[in-house]
Amino acid sequence: MPAIFGPRANLLTNVGLLAFAGLGSLTAFLIWGVPRSQYNTQQSLTPPQPVPFSHKHHVGDDGIDCRYCHSTVEISANAGVPATATCMTCHSQLFTQSDVLAPVRASYLQHKNLRWNRVYALPDYVYFDHSIHVAKGVGCTECHGPIGAMPLTRRASDLTMQWCLDCHRDPGPHLRPHDQEFNAFWQRTKETPSADQLVAAYHIHTADLTDCTVCHR
Ligand code: HEC
Ligand code: HEC
Ligand code: HEC
Ligand code: HEC
Ligand code: HEC
Repeated sequence: MPAIFGPRANLLTNVGLLAFAGLGSLTAFLIWGVPRSQYNTQQSLTPPQPVPFSHKHHVGDDGIDCRYCHSTVEISANAGVPATATCMTCHSQLFTQSDVLAPVRASYLQHKNLRWNRVYALPDYVYFDHSIHVAKGVGCTECHGPIGAMPLTRRASDLTMQWCLDCHRDPGPHLRPHDQEFNAFWQRTKETPSADQLVAAYHIHTADLTDCTVCHR
C-alpha cells in the first residue's frame, strides 16, 4: 500500500504551518497594533482645507475669542464651525485682494459655505457634549492642545476611549477657573485653586463618570 503522506506532503504541511503562523502574526497585528498606531488614531492629523486657516494668526496674534467662530460651544453638544459670513465680517475689509482668501469670497458670493474637513470626529456610537465640559471648567486646550499656536489645525489627542476615561477617573488636575477656559495660552500658577478645590467648586461627581452609559447611550 503506498504511503498516504509522502515526503511532498511534509513539505506542504511545513509551508502550510508557516503560512498559518504568518497569518497569525498579521491577525495579531491587526487586532492589537492597528488600533494603537498613529495610522488609526490619526493623532497628528492635519487634513487638507479649502483655505489655510490659521488659529495662530486669529487667536494667537489677533486675540479673537473662540466663541466668535465656534458660537455654540457653551450651549450645545457641538462647537460648530463658522459660516463664511463670519469670516466676511472682517475679510470684506481686510485682505480683500488676497489670493488665499479667494475661495472665501467665492463661497460668500455663491451663498455656499466652505467645506472644512473634520480634524476631530468620534464614531456615531459615542455621545459627547461640549457644553457640559465648558460648564465644569475643562478648557479647550485640555482636549485640543496648543491651538492658539497652530498655523494649521492639527489633531492633538487620540480620542480613544482610554483617553476619555483617564480624565473621567480623575478630572481635578485638568480643571481651571471659569474665566480661563477659552484662554488658549493658560497655564497653572501659584494662585490657581487646587484640583480638590476646583472639583468641589464645580460639584463634580467622579463616582459614576466612568459608567458605560455616560458615553454610550
Ligand atoms: C476667526 C474664526 C475662528 C476662531 C476665533 C477660532 N476658530 Fe477654531 N476653527 C475655525 C475654522 C474656520 C475651523 C475649520 C478649519 C480648521 O480646522 O482649521 C476651525 C477649526 C477648529 C477645530 C477643529 C474642528 C474639527 O474639524 O474637528 C478646533 C478644535 C478649534 N477650531 C478650536 C478653537 C479654539 C479652542 C479656539 C479659541 C482658542 C478657536 N478655535 C478659535 C475658526 C476659528
Ligand atoms: C474678527 C476679524 C476676523 C475674522 C472674523 C476672520 N479673520 Fe481672517 N484675518 C484677520 C486678521 C486681522 C488677519 C491678519 C492676521 C495676522 O497676520 O495676524 C487675518 C488673516 C487671514 C488669512 C491670511 C491672509 C493672508 O493673506 O495671509 C486667512 C487665510 C484668513 N484670515 C482666513 C479667514 C477665514 C477663513 C475666516 C473665517 C472662518 C476668517 N479669516 C475670519 C481677521 C479676521
Ligand atoms: C473634553 C474634551 C474637549 C473639550 C474640553 C473641548 N472639546 Fe472640542 N471636541 C472634542 C471632541 C471629542 C470633538 C469631536 C466631537 C464629535 O465628533 O462628536 C470635538 C470637536 C470640536 C469641534 C468640531 C466641530 C464640532 O462641534 O464637533 C470644534 C470646532 C471644537 N471641538 C471646538 C472646541 C472649543 C472652542 C472648545 C473650548 C470651548 C472645545 N472644543 C473644548 C473634545 C473637546
Ligand atoms: C480633560 C478631562 C476630560 C476629558 C478628556 C473628557 N471628559 Fe467628559 N467630562 C469631564 C468632566 C469634568 C465632566 C463633568 C462631570 C460632572 O458633571 O460632574 C465630563 C462630563 C462628560 C459627560 C456628561 C456626563 C453626565 O453625567 O451627564 C459626557 C457625556 C462626557 N463627559 C463624555 C466624554 C467623552 C466621550 C470623552 C472623550 C471623547 C470625554 N468626555 C473626555 C472631563 C473630561
Ligand atoms: C468617557 C467616555 C466613555 C465611557 C465612560 C465608556 N466609553 Fe466606550 N468608547 C468611548 C470612545 C470615545 C470610544 C471610541 C474609541 C475609538 O474610536 O477609538 C469607545 C469605544 C467603545 C467600544 C468599541 C470598541 C473599542 O474598544 O474601540 C466598545 C465596545 C466600548 N466603547 C464599550 C464600553 C463599555 C463596556 C464601557 C463601560 C465599561 C464604556 N465603553 C465606557 C468612550 C467611552
